[in-house]
Amino acid sequence: MSDTLSHFGRYPTTRLRRLRQHEWLRLLVREHELRPHHLIMPLFVHDHPSSTPIESLPTHHRLSLDDLVHKADECLQHGITAIALFPVIDDTLKDDKGSHALQEDNLLCRAIAHVKKHHPQLGVIADVALDPFTSHGHDGIVRDGTILNDETVAVLCRQAVLQAHAGADIIAPSDMMDGRIAAIRQSLDESHQTHCLILSYAAKYASAFYAPFRDALGSRSLLGASHKKTYQMDYHNRREALREIAFDIDEGADMVMVKPALPYLDVICHAAQSFAVPLFAYQVSGEYAMLRHGGSHLSYDDCLLESLVAIRRAGAQAIVSYGALDAARLLTS
Ligand code: PBG
Repeated sequence: MSDTLSHFGRYPTTRLRRLRQHEWLRLLVREHELRPHHLIMPLFVHDHPSSTPIESLPTHHRLSLDDLVHKADECLQHGITAIALFPVIDDTLKDDKGSHALQEDNLLCRAIAHVKKHHPQLGVIADVALDPFTSHGHDGIVRDGTILNDETVAVLCRQAVLQAHAGADIIAPSDMMDGRIAAIRQSLDESHQTHCLILSYAAKYASAFYAPFRDALGSRSLLGASHKKTYQMDYHNRREALREIAFDIDEGADMVMVKPALPYLDVICHAAQSFAVPLFAYQVSGEYAMLRHGGSHLSYDDCLLESLVAIRRAGAQAIVSYGALDAARLLTS
């Protein structure tokens, strides 16, 4: 044992189990908390009059606009104060440039406006990236197999401004293009959206854990054998995440995010210790699916709460999780 640790006590004078004897005592010495307001619920919307289940994400649905409002209401009732919206676009509206993302009345903009109209007190986070809208499933514009950086950023800026005008409180660029935070901030400011926040998916890894999300969006089959490793981060790297985060803070991000979460607790911990901006984490679709598919051998409820507390313990302020509403229910029951 190191000098610093042994300095603080030694068995049998000190018995650490003494602090664990009673529930009241365990609560008194508890170091980290998970509350419903730490959680953000991701929700999918589609342009159909009724909702349909998402096979890859048990209990989640592609929601109709009306069901979206009901779900948002449920979130608020259980103490969740923000949702993250993802549009599921009909294949017929997708093209190689993701043009539909720039239509003022597209599904995402309508969904933002609809939910804000019914629940003005609920924080709405809108994802900025082209993958829900492109026929190839990539987050940006592709030419000869290359994802073009600056051309994509120009489109993302317009997408962000549209979403802010529709009523999004927070713009969340998830595309991993270089320089997009500064460009989006400037575009928002120029269009009088200085109050609109930017949550940057700053350290987003090229992860196999996104598969159920891509199924939900319909982009997985469009991507085929193609991958996102030329823009999302290599999961062998940690210091690079700090560079990504530092850049995004410098460019004007109000909050930054690490994604995925549980397999990346080291990155979250490092980032939390290195920067003073609010740090979020995204417990992604594959992490949720694994918890859900534990079968009768694992308690979904207990494992969900344990994993969310672990992410908070690592240093995340807030967590986007498909289990957010389940966890909030458990925490408030
Ligand atoms: C796309 C986007 C992805 C997720 C959020 N925004 C997937 C991807 O990068 O392919 C993943 C979320 C999840 O798996 O839950 N811009």
